[in-house]
This record gives sequence, C-alpha cells and structure tokens, in this order.
Amino acid sequence: MHLADRVDRIQSSKTVSITNTVLKMKQEGYDVISLGAGEPDFETPDFIKKAAIEAIQTGKTKYTQVMGIPELRKAIVEKFKRDNDLDYGIDRVVVTTGGKQALFNAVLAICQEGDEVLVPSPFWVSYPEQIQMAGATLVPVKALPENGFKIDPEDLKAAITPRTKLVIFNNPVNPTGAVYDFQTLEQIAKIVAEAHIWALTDEIYEKIVFDGVRHYSLAAFPEIKEQVVVVNGVSKAFAMTGWRIGFAAGSKEVISAMNKIQGHSTSNANTMAQWASVAALNSDWQNLQWMVDEFEKRRNFVVERLSAMPDVASVKPAGTFYIFPKVSSYFGKKYGKYEIRDSLSFCQFLLEEEKVALIPGEAFGADEFVRISFAASFADLEKGMNRIGQGLTKLYSL
Ligand SMILES: Cc1ncc(COP(=O)(O)O)c(C=O)c1O
Repeated sequence: MHLADRVDRIQSSKTVSITNTVLKMKQEGYDVISLGAGEPDFETPDFIKKAAIEAIQTGKTKYTQVMGIPELRKAIVEKFKRDNDLDYGIDRVVVTTGGKQALFNAVLAICQEGDEVLVPSPFWVSYPEQIQMAGATLVPVKALPENGFKIDPEDLKAAITPRTKLVIFNNPVNPTGAVYDFQTLEQIAKIVAEAHIWALTDEIYEKIVFDGVRHYSLAAFPEIKEQVVVVNGVSKAFAMTGWRIGFAAGSKEVISAMNKIQGHSTSNANTMAQWASVAALNSDWQNLQWMVDEFEKRRNFVVERLSAMPDVASVKPAGTFYIFPKVSSYFGKKYGKYEIRDSLSFCQFLLEEEKVALIPGEAFGADEFVRISFAASFADLEKGMNRIGQGLTKLYSL
C-alpha cells in the first residue's frame, strides 16, 4: 500500500510548524499576536454579501459553464479594460476557484517534464510546488533588497536556456511588497518576447499599492500579449479570500487548455460566489480605497518601528500588506534554550518567548528574512511590534 511518489515531492508547508504552535498556544490560553495573516482583516463589504444571498434566494444554485457565468466573465473583461488597458474577448477569460487555481491550471497547461520555469526569488510559497507537480523545475532569479527586491532584467535574460518554458511573475510581490516600475516591466516584456517563452503574471495584489504608485500589468505590453496569462481575483481587492473566486485571461489556446483541465477537476467555481463577484467587479472600486489607506497607515507604522530596531534591515514596501525585513544578523545567537540558526528558529524564538508569530523567510526561498503581515488591527500591530522589539533586545545584548 503505497501513495504516489508525487506526494513525497511536495514540500509540506514550512509555516505549518509555526501555525501549529500558534494554535496550541492559543488553546492553552496564551495571548499570541499573529502577524502572519495572508488576507485582509476587513469584512467582505455588505453589498457583495447581499448579492450572494440574492443569488441563493433566486435559485442560482446549479452548475454553471466551466469557464464561469457570462455575466462574471463580462465584468472581468470590463475590469481588464478599465484597470489594465487590456482588451480580451469574453472567450479569453476563465473563472477559477481562487487565484491559486488559475495559477495551477496555467502551470499544468503550459509546463511538463524537463521544462524550466524562471521565478523571481523571494517567491510566493505555492509557485515551487505547482511547478514541481507539473514535473517542471524552478529556476530562481534573485530579486535583491539592494534593488528594492526587484529583479534585474539582465539576470532574467541570463537565466534563459533552451529548456525555459515559462516565467512566473508576481507584481506586487508577496512577500516583499515590491511593485515594479514601467521601465523594468518594459525590459522584462522585451526579454520574454525575444525568448518566445510563456509568462504568467500574478497580479492579485494589484489594488494594494501605496504612495500614489501606479500598478502596470505585464500583459499590457502588446508584443507579448499572446504569450502572457494574467491572473487576478477578488480575494485581496475586495476582502473576499473565503469566497474562492479568481480569474485568468490569455490567448484562446491557453485559456481553453486551462478550461479543459478545470472541466475534469473542480468544474465551475462556486455559483453564488460568482454572482457575488459580479457585484464586486461592477462596483466603483474607489469606495474601497479606504482599505488601502488603512494598510498604508499601518505600513508606515511598522516601517517606523522596524527602523528603530537594531540590526534589522527592511525595504519599505510599495504594495501588498507585507514587509520582509532581513534578520540574519541574529543568526548564531543563543538565548536560554533557543539557538537562532535560521529564519525558522528565529520565528520559533519570537513565538515561544514573546508570543508574536511571523512567517520564516525560508518558506519564500529567502532564509535571511522574515515576513511580517500588517493585515492586523493597530492594537495588535502595536503589541506585536513591541514584542518583536523586546525579543530582539534580548538577543542583541548577547
Ligand atoms: C501572490 C499570491 N498569489 C495568489 C494567491 C492566491 O489567491 P486566492 O486566495 O485567490 O487563491 C495568493 C494568496 O495568498 C498570493 O499571495
């Protein structure tokens, strides 16, 4: 009785041990502050909830087309036009169960055994596993803090081999909060065009940008439009993580391949959640700008508090709700039973000793760092930052 080898190749989440300890400590009655959240802490707006209730009450409870209801695909087409200057026909858009499924279906549709996939590193935790499950190999391209955690397009070019099939690009970036400028994107687009490779651009944090920075879609460069699959969704922009609605647009060929895969796995995304997403996407997003303004205030607070901490170097994030400080100068220190060797033992120390939970950078392919999420209330952020400061003071004085 054996399970498939595939399962052994999937890395179990490196954050699981932290999450388990958090749960256990909370059950034991400890007041743990978690700065690990990957979702907005705001409620889904009422008008969106009402649209789902209405869908249920009016019998919109059956299967839909695998690609999603035409009303939602039309709203997505409009969204791409309005926000990203992208023009797709309705048959070039597919609705998925979260942005995650859109990414997975695209990777499965594009990649196979022997293919190489370029991914800027640090990267979001699911890219390596999705690539691996497709039988392909991840090739990291370093995005250094000295360069604001953006890749140098020349490094991308240098990493291309005859086996390169795809580049997975994320903008704004989880976990660093980097947002790519137009010129760098233009250079990346040129490289993708010349290399004749696919590009998958994950723009799920598009709306969460600060300081008046503008987000540009990699798909909007006409010379690569047919080579790009753009992924987005309602999870982060509308505080709808639990509704599980994402979407993708691309060439007819790739979208129908993704549709084919989806048709034999999940079929259509949840029907009432699709109707709720129609309401979300057809609304005036400006009404939700307050969420981003709130994230920006919290970002400023966290940046200021971190800058006062010894031996912590961070890059001010221009988007997302994460910051990714470098903490490796604490590696090698010992405190009581704790020996700080890497990002995981650093996080374990802060969690057990100070009751504050962060995500180790190792999970994102960058062990010298930790990810702090500021999708938490000001009260929790204040407590959490105090606790981090306290923990670092203990280590620093050694
Ligand atoms: C970079 C990135 N892409 C995609 C997703 C997946 O989004 P969804 O919840 O819509 O599946 C996440 C969620 O955390 C993310 O951080």
